[in-house]
Amino acid sequence: MNNYKKINFKINKNIEGSEGKKHFYLETWGCQMNEEDSEKLSGMLKKTGYIRTNNKHNADLIIFNTCCVRENAELKVYGNLGALKKLKEKNSELIIAVCGCMMQQKDMAESIIKKFPFVDIIFGTHNAYKFPEYLNRVKQEGKSVIEIQDKEEGIVEGIPVDRESSIKAFVTIMYGCNNFCTYCIVPYVRGRERSRKPEDIEKEISDLVSKGYKEITLLGQNVNSYGKDLEPKMTFAQLLRQINTIEGLERVRFMTSHPKDLTQDVIDAIAECDKLCEYIHLPVQSGSSNILKKMNRIYTKEQYLELIERIRKAIPNVAISTDIIVGFPGETEEDFEETLDLARKVQYDSAFTFIYSKRKGTPADEMEDQIDDDVKHNRFNRLVEVINASSAIKNKEYEGREVEVLVEGLSKNDDEKLMGRTRTGKLVNFTGEKDSIGNLVNVKITKANSFSLVGEQIG
Ligand code: SAH
Ligand code: SF4
Ligand code: F3S
Repeated sequence: MNNYKKINFKINKNIEGSEGKKHFYLETWGCQMNEEDSEKLSGMLKKTGYIRTNNKHNADLIIFNTCCVRENAELKVYGNLGALKKLKEKNSELIIAVCGCMMQQKDMAESIIKKFPFVDIIFGTHNAYKFPEYLNRVKQEGKSVIEIQDKEEGIVEGIPVDRESSIKAFVTIMYGCNNFCTYCIVPYVRGRERSRKPEDIEKEISDLVSKGYKEITLLGQNVNSYGKDLEPKMTFAQLLRQINTIEGLERVRFMTSHPKDLTQDVIDAIAECDKLCEYIHLPVQSGSSNILKKMNRIYTKEQYLELIERIRKAIPNVAISTDIIVGFPGETEEDFEETLDLARKVQYDSAFTFIYSKRKGTPADEMEDQIDDDVKHNRFNRLVEVINASSAIKNKEYEGREVEVLVEGLSKNDDEKLMGRTRTGKLVNFTGEKDSIGNLVNVKITKANSFSLVGEQIG
């Protein structure tokens, strides 16, 4: 049964518009989920007449969309908020809003208002679609608005989205997470898993394709459990196969896959469907079965390695990336060496490596044997060395190869060159025709660097 009601987004007629004279500045921390939410915040604001600016100093409205997955994500928010005090003193009309995952934590909104009394609006992840209403209230009543909803309400469809790119787009297929890995705060701030209806997802993708988008990344904390809450039930593999039939769409990616739920039918779908890219992000978190158990990950090192083997067998030239945490409570030198061993065996294309960070309210926060900072840093550096070595080897394999690249724009460091990504997600800087931006081209790779490839367009 789909227990989540569908809410159709409408902008209330009584909301004051800004008639195109007011500017907003929006800064986002965290993962693609937050980026996608920010594209919606921006979409709603533009609908009411606001113009986006990249300069805080000439903004009439500043919004911080926050993340709390690790302590340093929060520290950045505090630092940036503190710096707004001066701007508010200069311009008392300035409206400051803070939202996102960090605000969903217990007592956080109150603590923010205490520390930064100049903040005007605070809301969380479950009620972001009501932002225009809150903004209106602040303007009309001149009082701050703090609205946090503890529980997810439903799935809101039809929010206008102001997308960063006109070539590739994120499309959320499910919200929330049910996994409760013991270190992780996401399930507490994003609520339980809920899947969007396949017809809503397909309509959004078809609309994007008709606007010229070529690549879609399907988003969810654990996309492999898509559809379990729908009536009739649907599997993620079925959704992928359906999306693969959308004409004009060139590439489909998805993230994140949980190793315990990545089923053979999803692997087969990637192998068989032309639009599904040969790239899987498969967070392992640790190479020690003992630590994986304490993390509540529900797989062992051996099961993970067996899964990698099946993926590589079914999908030739597949690129695999991962997330790894070092210094989880109780992690011994032997446990950590298991992680190094796993990373050497898998030979990842890339990895996001993290130092374990205590999060209030999670089971790991209460665990004994927290690891000393210097041990964590030492392990972190050793792991990064192993990952960089395998990234370099993987990239080297591309030298001399011809690859398909979706051209995203001019190179960051050299605007005589173009940049884009291969189907396997590798960044390529290359010489080519500027009018190919937004298209798929063939590129011959001439050189591999540790984190990117260099090449020339051949067609
Ligand atoms: N749903 C995704 C992403 C979750 S957050 C997934 O399951 O993979 C992204 C990454 O942050 C996680 O994969 C994990 O490696 C890391 N992370 C989460 N909580 C953390 C913590 N308390 N300390 C350090 N890293 C953490
Ligand atoms: Fe966090 Fe685990 Fe859920 Fe990922 S699967 S969001 S790491 S609880
Ligand atoms: Fe993402 Fe950070 Fe929230 S990682 S889900 S923005 S806590």
